[in-house]
Parts: sequence; C-alpha cells; structure tokens
Amino acid sequence: MSILVTGGTGYIGSHTCVELINAGYDIIIIDNFYNSNIRVLDRIEKITNIRPKFYEVDILDKDSLDKVFKENDIQAVIHFAGYKAVGESVEKPLAYYHNNVTGSLTLYEVMKEYNCNTLVFSSSATVYGSPKSCPIYEDFPVSTTNPYGSTKLVNEIILEDLCKCDENMSILSLRYFNPIGAHESGLIGEVPNGIPNNLVPYIARVANKQSEYVRVFGNDYPTRDGTGIRDYIHVVDLAKGHIAALKYVLEHKGYDKINLGTGNGYTVLEVIKAYEEACGFELAYEIQGRRSGDIAECYASTKKAKELLDWEAKYDIKKMCQDSWNFTKMNPDGI
Ligand code: NAD
Ligand code: UFG
Repeated sequence: MSILVTGGTGYIGSHTCVELINAGYDIIIIDNFYNSNIRVLDRIEKITNIRPKFYEVDILDKDSLDKVFKENDIQAVIHFAGYKAVGESVEKPLAYYHNNVTGSLTLYEVMKEYNCNTLVFSSSATVYGSPKSCPIYEDFPVSTTNPYGSTKLVNEIILEDLCKCDENMSILSLRYFNPIGAHESGLIGEVPNGIPNNLVPYIARVANKQSEYVRVFGNDYPTRDGTGIRDYIHVVDLAKGHIAALKYVLEHKGYDKINLGTGNGYTVLEVIKAYEEACGFELAYEIQGRRSGDIAECYASTKKAKELLDWEAKYDIKKMCQDSWNFTKMNPDGI
C-alpha cells in the first residue's frame, strides 16, 4: 500500500515526502514540474537514502492519473499540487480555477474510480478572509478576497460534500498559516518563481544581495509596532503535521478541517530582526504603504490540531530564519 503525494517535488510537498519516508511510508510522487524540478528527487534521496517512485503527471491529465492508480495500490492521497500566488490569481483567475479546481476534480474522480477514499488536502488560512479576531478557530466564518483563496474554498466545499454523500470517505483539509524555513540539511527549501511576493523569501533575497532592501508594507496597523502580524510555521513542523493528519484520516471517516500554525504571531519588523540574527548582518528595509488586501493580524488557534492530531509545532522563529538562511546560502541560484 502506498501514499500518493501530488505536487510532491514542491516546497511543502518535498519536506512532507522526507517525513513520510522517515516515518516508513511507501510513497509515490506525481508532479508536472510547473514550479519545481527533477533535482528535488535527488535531494530527497540524499536526505533519506531512498529514491521515491515518481511520475511526471499533470493532475489535469485523467489518463495519466489513471495509469498511476492502475499500476499502484494507493491507500491515501496527500494533495499539494496547485498554483499558489495570490497576486497572479487576480491576473489569471481562469488559469487558477482550471488548475486548482478542475485539476483537483480530475484527481477526485480517479480516486473514486479506484475506491481510494482517503485524502489530505492543502488548504490555507486565506479561507478566513478578514477574521473577526485572533486566534482564528476552525469554525470561524469563511470568505475569500482573491481567486486563489476561492479555489481553496471551492475545494473544501467539494470535499465536504463528497464526505456527506459517501460515508466511506475520509478527508481532512489542512489550513496552513505561513510556512517558511527549510530542511536543516539545506538540501530542500522554497525556490520562488521570479521575484518573491512573500515576506521571508524576499528577506532571503535581500540577505543574499539580490535585492537592496525589504519593503515593509505598512507600519500603521493596530499591532505592537504597526506592521502586520502573521503565524509563521517551520515547513518541517508543517510536514510533520501531515504525517499526523494522514494517521488521522486512515483511522477516522468523514470530513474535517484543521489549522496548522504555531499560535504565535510575529510582526514584519520582528521577522526582519530574527533574520538579521540568523545571517549575522543588518538588513536594509523601507517602510512603504499597505499592500492591498492585507489584514493586520492572522494567527491560529492550535487547539483542534493538538486535540485531534496530537500534533503541535516545535520550532521557533529563530530556527525558521536560520534554516531559511542556510538553504539560501547553500542554493543561491535555487535547486
Ligand atoms: P509549490 O508551488 O512549491 O508546490 C506545488 C507543486 O505542485 C509544484 O511542484 C508544482 O510543479 C506542482 N503542480 C502545480 N500544478 C500541477 C498540476 N496541474 N499537476 C501536477 N503538479 C502540479 O507550492 P507549496 O508552497 O509547496 O504549496 C503546496 C500546496 O499548499 C499548494 O496547494 C498551496 O496552494 C498550498 N498552500 C501553500 C502555502 C504557502 O505559503 N506556501 C500556504 C497555504 C497553502
Ligand atoms: N510583507 C512585507 N513585505 C513583503 C512581503 C510581505 O511587508 O515584501 C508583509 C505583508 O504585508 C504581511 C506579512 O509580510 O503583513 C506576510 O506577508 P506574506 O506575503 O509573506 O504572507 P501573507 O500572509 O500575505 O499570505 C500567505 C500566503 C497566502 C496564504 C496566506 C495565509 O502567500 O497564499 O499566507 O496562509 F493564503
């Protein structure tokens, strides 16, 4: 019996594959290399001494997916494959709906055909829209402010309906907060496509002398230093959360959604400071206006993850920045 990992050569997928292999799971990765490359497989092998079985497959291609299910006995799927850039989704909403919704539907159809009823889905804290307060609990109202977020919400709705209509199904949507950092080997990590939009990849770029200064988007939020607060989570903690989620879905039927965060919020200036400590030199920054669509603060309640999954994040912001910097230094031009 194997676990199928879609998008398994991507940032979160590759770290999860390492943890799955370390935990003794037999895995199969599929990816179309839209935002990753084959060298990630070499890196996973280097870390774990095991080369995972791999198919270069687009989840939109039903025949190829069918072949993967035909050739393997797939017990459960962890579904990472998708596009993830909020700004780009506003420019190309149809491409986002096609890949993230039609692609996912194609996967769910093939799973159904092969009687594979167990799934862990990559959702996002973006489904909380502008939360009324923090910490954010899973039963808070959901809404979205951009097409990317809508594709996550649509998937959640589809998956909940699938479970309502078939009592054999077992599905968890994991709502990630802000994954950062890298594997401590420095062999895998986040490689942004072009100039990064997210804070920590941008800070890494400044530390790596590829950009002059960090643009701080707004210092007039009602937060302790005026800059935005987010719940940054080490990608290895997040990956371990998937192992806990997988165990859970293999033992429980039905649908549920769970936050994966640390429960702690850091401001933009605090993250820059932590990164300066990690790299050992000062980083220039400039205060700019607010970025449209941003909220003041966003951090998770971790209660449900602790109760249902017996999982909680262990790494602090210092370790997240150290591992990000280590990966950046070791891979200045990506993987
Ligand atoms: P990533 O881009 O690094 O990984 C996604 C992988 O999916 C890539 O390797 C890409 O090549 C592959 N892919 C994309 N479309 C595909 C398709 N049609 N067929 C096959 N493979 C395809 O992204 P990530 O940061 O690892 O994110 C993984 C998942 O988690 C995504 O669904 C993303 O939306 C979600 N998520 C990410 C974050 C974040 O901040 N990184 C936050 C919340 C949720
Ligand atoms: N920020 C800057 N400068 C930058 C980039 C970001 O000041 O160059 C600030 C933002 O204003 C925000 C904080 O840093 O206050 C974090 O911004 P990110 O872009 O890193 O992350 P977001 O919280 O905006 O969004 C991320 C993902 C989304 C996901 C969301 C919730 O990009 O896909 O977390 O999980 F939906």
